[in-house]
Amino acid sequence: MKVGGRPYRTIWRAADGGAVEIIDQTLLPHAFVTLRLETLGAAAEAIRAMRVRGAPLIGAAAAYGLCLAAAVDASDFALAEASRVLLATRPTAINLRWAIETMMATLAPLPEPERAAAAWQRAASICEEDVATNAAIGRHGLAVLREAWTAKGGQGPLNVLTHCNAGWLATVDWGTALSPVYHAHDAGIPVHVWVDETRPRNQGASLTAWELGQHGVPHTVIVDNAGGHLMQRGLVDVCIVGTDRTTRTGDVCNKIGTYLKALAARDNNVPFYVAAPGSSIDFSVRDGLTEIPIEERDATEVTMISGRIADGSVATVMLTPPGSPARNDAFDVTPARLVTGLITERGVCPASEAGLSGLYPER
Ligand code: MRU
Repeated sequence: MKVGGRPYRTIWRAADGGAVEIIDQTLLPHAFVTLRLETLGAAAEAIRAMRVRGAPLIGAAAAYGLCLAAAVDASDFALAEASRVLLATRPTAINLRWAIETMMATLAPLPEPERAAAAWQRAASICEEDVATNAAIGRHGLAVLREAWTAKGGQGPLNVLTHCNAGWLATVDWGTALSPVYHAHDAGIPVHVWVDETRPRNQGASLTAWELGQHGVPHTVIVDNAGGHLMQRGLVDVCIVGTDRTTRTGDVCNKIGTYLKALAARDNNVPFYVAAPGSSIDFSVRDGLTEIPIEERDATEVTMISGRIADGSVATVMLTPPGSPARNDAFDVTPARLVTGLITERGVCPASEAGLSGLYPER
């Protein structure tokens, strides 16, 4: 996607070949800064501190983290240790484990001297596959949005509600939930996006709003509690969200607050779609509620908030009384029964074991 008219991806190998570069997402939307990562430790820190975030991008960053590790020591022991360090960064998005297992399946059988070059190649192909996957999700999602637009009689804007950031910033390019939106916008459908601010880290207000603005997609930021109210008034035609991990039975783990949107959507007969690339589907788990580890992040993300102040600088201020404890579960699980359909790179299917096995028989 373009930033100020120039095409960007969220992660790429540096021109000198010895490092990886990323967009530091902790600084958006107030500053667009790219960052050079030269070591495994720097890659792990970037994932942990959410300089890169979003399930597919976490996977891509972990793949490049293994490249940086292999450039120093490509022994079995060193790569196992690097995998352990990367896996410990964030527990919920399955793409992290998927990317590490994909990398290791390529590297492990090779003689040690060949591993570093092979790692760079495999990481690059993971990124290319992510871009192709998300473009395909966009095409399948476009059909869903076109149908919704036709059902609406082609009148007024097509209102899509999304939660968190599942746009191009959360992937290598295109995004998952926002890829259908970009495809629809580019196809001339007058799409308008309700952007949940997504407390506590505000990925909606800071990242989704920014990237939609860069692409010229009409959007409105709303507080997290507004979605149900807008649905009751007929102001939401479709919800589309991303996923950090979807089980083989179609339960969807995504950013905290997703479940409440799905409940409101069901109560108001609003279709609730989840854009799920194959790399985010964990066929080893059935029950999203009991089998998916939910990341609990620092309570200061709830008690403090950052933003641009009157003099143009960015400041962090406290929201709560000093003694109030806070709890910060980063994800929740939406049961499959509340999901209208999964938009995958292979097509749209019901959120069920039968639906997923129809599209992914080999898994
Ligand atoms: O904590 P984050 O910002 O990594 O969470 C991101 C989300 O929850 C996204 O919706 C999800 O990763 C899907 S990204 C295409």
